[in-house]
Amino acid sequence: MLNFPPDHPARDMQDTFFVTSGNPGSDVLLRTHTSPVQVRVMLDQKPPIRVICPGKVYRNEAISSRSYCVFHQLEGLYIDKKVSFADLKATIYSFAKQMFGTDVKLRFRPSFFPFTEPSAEVDVTCYLCGGKGCKVCKKSGWLEIMGCGMVHPNVMRNCGIDPEEWSGYAFGMGVDRTVLLRYKIDDIRLLFENDLRMLRQFGA
Ligand code: DAH
Repeated sequence: MLNFPPDHPARDMQDTFFVTSGNPGSDVLLRTHTSPVQVRVMLDQKPPIRVICPGKVYRNEAISSRSYCVFHQLEGLYIDKKVSFADLKATIYSFAKQMFGTDVKLRFRPSFFPFTEPSAEVDVTCYLCGGKGCKVCKKSGWLEIMGCGMVHPNVMRNCGIDPEEWSGYAFGMGVDRTVLLRYKIDDIRLLFENDLRMLRQFGA
């Protein structure tokens, strides 16, 4: 439904964890991203559509200060008449300004996702090091916080929405990375260790 068949190479983008359920031939996949929620919403609702769906996702990542095997995504989907990439950019800029301050710098990098065309990844200047380069931004001064793009016409068609009439954008934001930048935390693993000294700082 997200425009990538089981053998599509883009599936490699989301390394996966499979859990054996005990029934032969019925492996269970821990979900790797929140984008499938888009499809459930589009099957269920008629446009115009505006939704935000938070969720926990699992990936077989190389664990480091910037990546963990469990994290959270915030999926956004907006479908209406004449929605353009400019609307997507403006929305993300306005989010980033409120989250990080008005002098935030963003970088939209062209990318590929089977379910969007065109697609982009969005980087934010690394607030931990002020853009100078640190272990979290891998010395680049930028940290990727989301994938996004214009919803692919095939995805709309799969869900019974006419792409000649409607258009839309979607994004999947890494909540944990956003938290690292916002609170200047230099290791994502601290968010998952449940150390009370860490949690108490956030009112737990
Ligand atoms: N699901 C993608 C990922 O986890 C991120 C993403 C990209 C979400 C583009 C979207 C989108 O909604 O339109 O890498």
